[in-house]
Amino acid sequence: MMPIRVYGDLEHNLDIAMQAADKAAKLLRSYHKENKDLAIQFKGKNDLVTKADLASEALIKEVISKAFPDDLFLAEESHTSWELSDARTWIIDPIDGTTNFAHGFPTYCISIALHENKQPVLGLILEASKSEMFTAVKGKGAFLNGRPIHVSNISEPKHALLATGFPYKDLGIVDDYLEVFKVFMHETQGVRRPGSAAYDLACVAAGRFDGFYEYGLSPWDVAAGILIIQEAGGVLTDWEGGNNYVFGQRIVAGNAAMHSYILNTIQKKISPSFIR
Ligand code: IPD
Ligand code: CA
Ligand code: CA
Repeated sequence: MMPIRVYGDLEHNLDIAMQAADKAAKLLRSYHKENKDLAIQFKGKNDLVTKADLASEALIKEVISKAFPDDLFLAEESHTSWELSDARTWIIDPIDGTTNFAHGFPTYCISIALHENKQPVLGLILEASKSEMFTAVKGKGAFLNGRPIHVSNISEPKHALLATGFPYKDLGIVDDYLEVFKVFMHETQGVRRPGSAAYDLACVAAGRFDGFYEYGLSPWDVAAGILIIQEAGGVLTDWEGGNNYVFGQRIVAGNAAMHSYILNTIQKKISPSFIR
């Protein structure tokens, strides 16, 4: 029989993730403070990667591997597949908001989630320029810098502030996306586009945004935010209303009322071929 390795409770795991994120955030801020070369490269259309993304990811993996040597990783800059096994897997975005970071625009996050048996058990999002740390451990609530957070209780669109990300790689959906946008421009207080999906999700959990939707996201953009929102009392689905929101690349999140308002609008305005 394989020996069972005991890694302590999830709080200990969160502690290690926080140490990794803190170190990575310091490193990221040093690129701006010391005016270091970012050596920007393009992975595809409008898809940037910098030296800082690679260094942040290596540092986070090093800290986690030291504490949990048998664990697996699904990390943006070094993954080889999207497959998730039942083994403990850390899902990492070393900079969520690389375009912001590269332009010196101050909203960029480190996002770290832990999945066990393909289920999220821990999530952490650190907005590195403002040092806001959003955390959750399954069943224990959601926190911002150690204080409990909860989704908002706004139930009418006219009182709601929403967030999204604009398509920038696969532009086939743009016309439909603008139709959804038009509805929200007429019916809500506004739609923000901070440029970091992880931050958008964290702000839904903290009740700053009442809802969020985006097309084309990857698991490392959303894995941590999903658990943080669930622990903050929010609702998440894919665009069909199902639960394929980690890998499905289409997400709607919010308090229950705003989630259902956004989902209905998407299903009314976006062609079925983009919904699934
Ligand atoms: C991006 C950000 C952005 C979202 C993109 C993501 P990256 O992540 O989350 O807000 O609109 O779809 O790819 O590339 O900066 O890690
Ligand atoms: Ca990302
Ligand atoms: Ca990234």
